Amino acid sequence: MSEIQHVRIKDITSAHAGQSVEIRGWLRNKPGGKGRYFLWLRDGSGEIQAVAEQDELPASVWADCERIGLESSIVVTGTVRQHPKNADEFELQLTDIRVLQDVADYPIGKKAHGVEFLMKNRHLWLRGTRQSAILRIRSEVQKAFADFFYDRGFYRVDTPVFTPNACEGTTTLFEVDYHGDTVYLTQSGQLYNEADIGALGQVYCFGPTFRAEKSKTRRHLLEFWMLEMEAAYYDHFDNMRCQEEMLAFTVRRILDNCRADLKLLDRDPAKLEPALETPYPRIRYGDTIEIINDWRIMKLAESRQVSPEQGREMLFSGKSVNIRDESFEDANEQKQRISAFRWGDDYGAPDELRISDRFDRPCFVTNFPVEIKGFYFKDELNEDGTERIDPVFTKLQANEPGLIVPGSTGHTVLGSDCLGSEGAGELIGGSQREDDLARLEAKIAHHKLPPEFLEWYVDLRRYGNVPHSGFGIGLERTVAWLAGGSDNPLHLRETIAFPRMLHQYEP
Ligand code: 4AD
Ligand code: MG
Repeated sequence: MSEIQHVRIKDITSAHAGQSVEIRGWLRNKPGGKGRYFLWLRDGSGEIQAVAEQDELPASVWADCERIGLESSIVVTGTVRQHPKNADEFELQLTDIRVLQDVADYPIGKKAHGVEFLMKNRHLWLRGTRQSAILRIRSEVQKAFADFFYDRGFYRVDTPVFTPNACEGTTTLFEVDYHGDTVYLTQSGQLYNEADIGALGQVYCFGPTFRAEKSKTRRHLLEFWMLEMEAAYYDHFDNMRCQEEMLAFTVRRILDNCRADLKLLDRDPAKLEPALETPYPRIRYGDTIEIINDWRIMKLAESRQVSPEQGREMLFSGKSVNIRDESFEDANEQKQRISAFRWGDDYGAPDELRISDRFDRPCFVTNFPVEIKGFYFKDELNEDGTERIDPVFTKLQANEPGLIVPGSTGHTVLGSDCLGSEGAGELIGGSQREDDLARLEAKIAHHKLPPEFLEWYVDLRRYGNVPHSGFGIGLERTVAWLAGGSDNPLHLRETIAFPRMLHQYEP
């Protein structure tokens, strides 16, 4: 007898048709009965159906097929053939089976389970069709990110997890006792990246990132993975170009290499295709104010059954009003309390959706007010080096001063948020960095950051200072966009094997 070839399911092609192959995996499901079973096999790389027919099999093999329960570990031998219905799929005619462990009572059944149960059994839930497909896509995204930067001559550096200070605000720091000293789990590797470019020119880091988020939304984890790039001599525009090219490159990879997984997830690849084309649309923060308010007026008028004019009056009266927003699945997100969106307000998820829904691919929101961004963002300047005042701000000052958060200057930063399409929310935050020594020192003081911990960072502006930019992309948000999108909006807990969320750190 000839040696039977072991193959992984994802590697089965038309070249295997008619051949006998061995699949080493687990039993995913077993519809059928009365002389024929369809054994759905999975081996981690994909899923395939093996048809077992009583008439064709030795009695002992048939008996094994009959007795095994879901998630039994099995090695199956069968002959490959085209799936009778799906042209781009294959199936096996089962000829033999070896049962390593017969499982009779797998706790996750076919009936719908609650999220709490599934999370408690995350170590098993992972094996589900959807869950494993999402994790394969995650792996492909990581490879795509790495290849993209490698191809462009970036070096990967690894930034520390224990850090003495905040990068993204002091309210989301996780404290660690460092033999008597207090340090924090990293919120971002950016500051270290800025030092690393002095050595390597163009770098990226990619690792776990920690934010003590108190909010329980589907877009927030307490531990997530972020790729952060930093490049010397890149300005704000080079930075956005790099981001859109990276996303387009990643989408190409997913469409090329993860077709089977997208199919398992019922994810329509056509919805990702527009993102292959760059440049992506850009819109300044100032220009989003009217978009957001127009929508709030419309929603208010709808909820309260008043005219748009009355809605406008109510919204701009300064009070806040309760509305319902059916564009969100989550009951908590549907209930919203709105007032007019003012210059200086930060976006909530519904606002991001308003902006991103105008486009069929990701978009950039740029030039946020300095007051709502971190200490390291570079200001947008006039030709003469003074801070530029945004024209929308000037107009509001003249016509609608109530739409300005008190204390706002109208100055903006050379930074951007990249919002995913299909309601994915913010995927990337990035900016040109403040490279002026005096301005940077003033910002550190203004943000009340302990200067002694940032002395080394300020040093970078003293020795071989250059204009530079960078960004950070959240891996889980990216996976949720690619694997779920609007076809099945994913909670971030499904985009990482063992999610860390508010009050949730097991298993
Ligand atoms: O916008 P953020 O906070 O930017 C930074 O940390 C910069 N220092 C990056 C840089 O310029 N080097 O975070 C960047 C991205 C967000 O756009 C989002 O995708 C993701 O990180 N992110 C989260 N993902 C999951 N859960 C959370 N709690 C997240 N917070 C941020
Ligand atoms: Mg951000």
